Amino acid sequence: MSARITKAIFPVGGLGTRFLPATKSMPKEMLPVVDKPLIQYAVEEAAEAGITEFIFVTGRGKTAIEDHFDHSTEIEDTLEKRGKDDGLTAVRGMMKPPGSVAYIRQQEPAGLGHAIWCARHYTNGEPVAVLLADDLIQPDKGGVGCLKQMVAAWQETGGNMVAAMDVAKEKTASYGIITPGVVDGALTEVKGLIEKPHPDDAPSTLAVVGRYILEPGVFGELEKMERGTGGEIQITDSLARRIGHVPFFSHQFSGTRFDCGSKLGFLQANISYALSRDDLADRLEPWLKSLNQ
Ligand code: G1P
Repeated sequence: MSARITKAIFPVGGLGTRFLPATKSMPKEMLPVVDKPLIQYAVEEAAEAGITEFIFVTGRGKTAIEDHFDHSTEIEDTLEKRGKDDGLTAVRGMMKPPGSVAYIRQQEPAGLGHAIWCARHYTNGEPVAVLLADDLIQPDKGGVGCLKQMVAAWQETGGNMVAAMDVAKEKTASYGIITPGVVDGALTEVKGLIEKPHPDDAPSTLAVVGRYILEPGVFGELEKMERGTGGEIQITDSLARRIGHVPFFSHQFSGTRFDCGSKLGFLQANISYALSRDDLADRLEPWLKSLNQ
């Protein structure tokens, strides 16, 4: 297996109802962790993994995301005039080459599988990565991002791959849950996959988190538009239907995952990322400790 993965899909059409009123007029993907929006972390993780084409599946009210990844001549001119080099480096450094970012609208909220399917024409029949910005994965100190780990593993396996982590049994109804097969280091063979099972019906506690590598056959399954859990077109179901046709592994990544679609996860992410920053840690840490006294 030596195919390269150069394209990534970012489904960003979701409404973010768990974060109202903050997300009433602002996309949830633009919520900042310290000083960077969630979506930028996902884009940077993808770029680190070798992605050069970024495909956003957006929806109504999401234009702030497009503006974020575009030049703001007004901001850049002002920073330049004022000699604010750090700010200038930050806003210019995140720009992608012209033509490498595409936006397509998911015109109806028909599920994650449907959102991914909306990007089918951009995939050109190649394997693609999918990143859900809500699932923020902080690399271990000195380590690499989750997608880069997966791409390295996928070079050996091909087929489909999902990021996975163990969750508490009572949480299975929030995730795609894996029926595990043979375990080989961080990789576990996926023998079955079911979307959001009740804890009593869950085949394990090994849960999918929002990183996927999809082989083109998945799009053939999505095409069938079969509705699953919640009446939505689920990527989980299309992946499950590819079992037996192509290899399918889950990858238990190194790093810490924060569920930034939840308030607690979002707060924890902010604290954890701030504590990893030289410009903030030595002032934040004593303050956090003082709260316990
Ligand atoms: C989606 C997927 C689910 C996966 C989860 C990871 O669910 O459908 O299989 O476990 O992302 O965050 P959502 O959280 O969008 O409901």
